[in-house]
Amino acid sequence: MENKHTDEEEREKIEIGLLLEGIYRYYGFDFRNYAYSSLRRRIWHRVYSEKLQTISGLQEKALHDRACLDRLLSDLSISVTEMFRDPGMFLKFREEIVPVLRNYPYIRIWHAGCSTGEEVYSMAILLQEEGLYDRTRIYATDMNQASLEKAKAGVYPLEKMKQYTQNYIEAGGKQSFSSYYTAKYNSVIFDPSLKKNMIFAEHNLVTDRSFNEFQVILCRNVLIYFNKELQDRVHKLFYESLSPNGFLALGSKESIHFTSYADCYQVISDRENLYMKFT
Ligand SMILES: C[S@@+](CC[C@H](N)C(=O)[O-])C[C@H]1O[C@@H](n2cnc3c(N)ncnc32)[C@H](O)[C@@H]1O
Repeated sequence: MENKHTDEEEREKIEIGLLLEGIYRYYGFDFRNYAYSSLRRRIWHRVYSEKLQTISGLQEKALHDRACLDRLLSDLSISVTEMFRDPGMFLKFREEIVPVLRNYPYIRIWHAGCSTGEEVYSMAILLQEEGLYDRTRIYATDMNQASLEKAKAGVYPLEKMKQYTQNYIEAGGKQSFSSYYTAKYNSVIFDPSLKKNMIFAEHNLVTDRSFNEFQVILCRNVLIYFNKELQDRVHKLFYESLSPNGFLALGSKESIHFTSYADCYQVISDRENLYMKFT
């Protein structure tokens, strides 16, 4: 009985490995070092949604049918996000990081894995309130083109505004949150002036290189989906892309501790996962 179980697990591992290898070699999307258990769950979800029986069946379909591949990609790139997510992080950013940023004539910020952009608009609002936005350029990247299109539009569901307003207040917001958007039917559009210093671009953390030097990098709720080896590789990319004394912000379940780069950063807040690169 036990052997049968192990055999099935072994076969499943082989099938997942072949599926990911095929997608990488044919399309260039590299999920080979994503965390296994979440990957496995999402692949099976796609197998059933496509009314298939096996992961090998999904491999055949994904390699021959681009639309199926796109559905799988959207399953694998979890896009959940919100404005002022983890308000305590934004509050700490205002209190501890903004005073340092005031010393720079020009500020470059990279949101890596920005999804549909809510985090980016939150940062633009915060910087505008602190009088820093005019000298900041925000680079917002993601591997998911469909998410980036939504981010560029800056249109979000009206029903979310109640929670976002609460987050904004807890994050130390200084105005009325509704002054930043206009409601139309069931959506809101954020003030286009917030976009003036944002640059959205496709960038894959696994396969693409650094493209600038930044005073701040935010990569929140992305590394959690990567295995240890890939996390270390991406930390190398961030370390090389940060200016001396640059800041790194990770997600609430992510930490620099236990990575190969732990000693390269000073902790600004362990609770909010904010770090500063040593010179
Ligand atoms: C859960 S969202 C996080 C969004 C936002 N940073 C936040 O914390 O609310 C994860 C994002 O990471 C992106 N992502 C996953 N793997 C990536 C990769 N290899 N390169 C770039 N972005 C990636 C996904 O497309 C998705 O938009």
